[in-house]
Amino acid sequence: MKIPMTSKLQIGVCLLGLGLLAACDSSAPSKPPSVGGGPVPAEFQTGETKFNANCSLCHGKQAVGTDHGPPLVHKVYEPNHHGDQAFQYAAANGVRSHHWEFGNMPKIDAVTPADVDQIVKYVRWLQRQAGIQ
Ligand code: HEC
Repeated sequence: MKIPMTSKLQIGVCLLGLGLLAACDSSAPSKPPSVGGGPVPAEFQTGETKFNANCSLCHGKQAVGTDHGPPLVHKVYEPNHHGDQAFQYAAANGVRSHHWEFGNMPKIDAVTPADVDQIVKYVRWLQRQAGIQ
């Protein structure tokens, strides 16, 4: 079983204070985003298509994660922790495994920076649906 190295940290954060409790209940980051089956807003559909074509193999449909890669709808990837630049960097250069135990992410040659911009908008939307912002 793959256990995110960050889970201990999160439990610590959850215990820290009442103010943070909200982050530990229904919007728990390990749960799939609560998109409620609703349609993806038009402005994010290009990003969704590009994400499904290039990223979902590992990060899963709706970025909930797979056996090959972590969920991007996860506290660890909220905008303050992994800004939009981290997505550009990941796609352009790949990622050396550091947060998880899935191995390294290869660089994704098929996407341009403009594609990644669209993908980030879609992922941020998914994150907001899950209460991660
Ligand atoms: C072959 C599998 C694979 C594919 C395809 C893939 N990723 Fe990843 N990605 C990973 C893995 C594994 C990690 C986690 C590395 C770690 O342990 O921190 C990761 C991490 C990331 C991170 C976090 C980077 C950081 O700084 O920690 C971002 C952002 C990301 N991926 C975005 C994308 C995007 C956008 C795409 C599509 C263009 C994509 N990934 C396609 C496997 C993949």
